[in-house]
Formats: sequence, C-alpha cells, structure tokens
Amino acid sequence: MSLNLASIPGDGIGPEVVDQSFLVLDAAAGKTGLKFEKTHFPFSAAHYIDTGKVLDDDDIAALRKFDAIMLGAVGGQPNDPRLAGGVIEKGILLKLRFDLDQYINLRPVKLYPGIDTPLKHKTSKEIDFVCVRENTEDLYCGLGGIMRKGTPHEVANQTMVATRHGVERCVRYAFETARARKAAGHRGHLTLVHKTNVLNFAGETWLRCFDEVKAEYADIETGYHHVDACCMFMVAKPEVYDVVVVPNMFGDIITDLGAAIAGGMGIASSGNLNPDGTAPSMFEPVHGSAPDIAGQNKANPIAAIDSMGLLCREVGRIKGDKAAVKAGELIGAAVQKVTPEFAGKSLDRSGFGCDAIGQMVVAAL
Ligand code: NAD
Ligand code: IPM
Ligand code: MN
Repeated sequence: MSLNLASIPGDGIGPEVVDQSFLVLDAAAGKTGLKFEKTHFPFSAAHYIDTGKVLDDDDIAALRKFDAIMLGAVGGQPNDPRLAGGVIEKGILLKLRFDLDQYINLRPVKLYPGIDTPLKHKTSKEIDFVCVRENTEDLYCGLGGIMRKGTPHEVANQTMVATRHGVERCVRYAFETARARKAAGHRGHLTLVHKTNVLNFAGETWLRCFDEVKAEYADIETGYHHVDACCMFMVAKPEVYDVVVVPNMFGDIITDLGAAIAGGMGIASSGNLNPDGTAPSMFEPVHGSAPDIAGQNKANPIAAIDSMGLLCREVGRIKGDKAAVKAGELIGAAVQKVTPEFAGKSLDRSGFGCDAIGQMVVAAL
C-alpha cells in the first residue's frame, strides 16, 4: 500500500514549513515501512498574480484522486489590492474545503511539554482540548451582496447558513470524538459554543440538534457556552473544555485564541476532514502565510509537522494502512520530545531556524 499525497505549499512560509513536514514524513516512512508519493500543485496567491488562475473544477477533479492533501498556507499581505475580496482564500482554500466536502475542521488545543503559555499558572493538565469546527457552512457560504454600492444608501449583507444536515453530521462527529477521548482517559465532555442569545435562527437549529443527538450519548457530559463567554473561559479556565463543537466563523476565531494559549501559531495543527472518505481530507497548520517572516527561515514548522502526523493517522485509519498510522504516531510523539527545547523561549520567535526545528523532529523519531 502506498499513500498518494498532493502537496500545496502555497505562499509565504507555506513552502518552508511544508518542506519540513515532508522531510519528517520521509524519515518516519523509513522507520515504519510506509510508502508514499508526493505530487506538487502550485495553487497560491503568487501563482494567481502570475497566471490569473486560482483553482478550477478540473483541478478539483485531479485532486480527488489523491489519498490526502498537505497544504501550507495561501494568501499575501492582508489587504493587498491585487488580492482584494478574498479571491485567494475563497478561490483556493474554501473551494477545496467545500468541494471536497471536508465538513470537519479538527483543531487540537494542547499545551505541549516545555512550551510557555501566556496563561499564568496553567499547565498541560489544564490546556488540552479539541475544537470540532464545522467547515462547510455558516458565514463561509459567501451568500450576500452589496446593493447601491458606493452611494450613501449602500446596503451590504452576509448570510449565515445552518442546515440540519450540515449541523447534525458535525455534532455527531463531535460526540464520537468525545467518546473516543473518554476511552483514551479524557473526561468525555462536549461543549456546544454558539451565540443563541442573538443568532436565534441558526442558533436554534444548532441547539435543537445538539439536544436531540445528546440523547443518544448518555455516556458524554455536555455543556453550552455563548462564544463570548467561551473566549473568557479559554483564557481564565481552559480546563472546562474537553471537546468543543462550534460553527465555522466562531470556530475560526476561537482556534487562533486556542493557538495562542497553547504557545503560538507555530504549534497549532489542523485537519479538514471528510470523515466518510468520499473525497480526500486536507491537512494544514492553522496559521497563515506570515508575510512578515517569509523567506527568512524563521517560521516554526511544528504546526505543519504535527498536521502531517494527523494526516498519517487519519488517512491510515480510513485506508486501513497500519504503517501510515504508525508513522503518524511516531511523528506526534517526536514533536512532543522536541518541544521541551523551546522552554523559556518564544515558540514563534525561538531563534531556531525552520530547517533546524525540522531536523530536531527527525532526530527524535
Ligand atoms: P498569519 O497566521 O499568517 O500570521 C500572524 C502572526 O503569526 C504573524 O506575526 C506571523 O509571523 C506569526 N506566525 C504565523 N505562523 C507562524 C509560524 N509557523 N512560526 C512563527 N510565527 C508564525 O496571519 P495573517 O498575518 O492574518 O495572514 C497572512 C495571510 O495568510 C493572509 O493573506 C491570510 O488570509 C492568510 N491566511 C491563510 C491561511 C491558510 O492558508 N490556511 C490561514 C490564515 C491566514
Ligand atoms: C483558517 C483561515 C481561513 C479561515 C481563511 C484564510 C479563509 O483563517 O484556516 O483558520 O477563515 O478558515
Ligand atoms: Mn483562521
């Protein structure tokens, strides 16, 4: 068996961190007998500026043939006029997530050994949860428009979408995640995060669905937080969370906060999952292209490397490839052997080169 992987390094620090993730995969493959092939795709803001092309339906058809996709980051300087209107984010990243029906965005928030958190007195015991972010609906559908543009009577609207089907499959995935975590010694607790006090339509669909599905999971404790309170708890009392299920936009916001409490953007990994395996899942660090440090060998590749570990475990599970699962476990363990090297340093500005950190992980495999 061989994993057929698509690589979309993207822009800025994307190529730097994706290179390291493949070097680590190569080394893990050597230890586990995993076989893989990598095919490079150029989709990025730079490619768009050169060619006028983002990603079309033929590209999606080509990507469907892969077992999984590894993505670095796409996007240029925020507010670059050549990239106005989210042409890159929508045209590449969101198109991939939507067209490949990657309806779960799984984002662990875990303080690794030795990493400094800005939260005083909080340790790895208190900062250890998983966000299950819905990934194909909500404000990300791009519904809306601008009327009477450029006039004093301009009207803009942007519509939040919650379908029963989309919400239910996400909520069920989150309950299953809580159950799996319980079996692995965690609390087995699931919190729904929304803003039902204001978003009374979309919020009601989420809450009713959550309450109905909950009846099938008597073994899982549940809770509900409004998203503003969730931000407060993530800082003041992160230990209240074990698994969080959250709609797309709130999930985007709270997972950057999650990255910050776990030490920085350089640590936060994610998987855009199609859990049914009807199309490939895509793995990427939570961070963006970081134009401020691009090309300087300063990026921390741990988030990309950890995302590669997640790729191996998830795809290995879907394909029944034991060597891939083993490689994913080795990568995850190696990352946690390396993180104590960051003790007393800033995770994102550690002074270690991007390539040096990759080598540290390879050595720890
Ligand atoms: P960003 O995550 O790129 O950067 C925010 C800050 O975190 C910067 O100071 C950066 O130096 C730092 N940082 C990020 N990753 C780091 C790493 N691995 N190591 C060390 N420091 C790191 O967010 P932004 O500046 O808001 O966005 C830049 C571009 O990336 C925008 O075009 C945005 O749309 C895009 N973006 C893409 C993705 C993606 O492709 N998945 C995600 C987020 C943002
Ligand atoms: C993320 C990013 C994306 C999102 C952007 C770049 C479209 O911020 O992956 O968190 O909002 O989902
Ligand atoms: Mn984000």
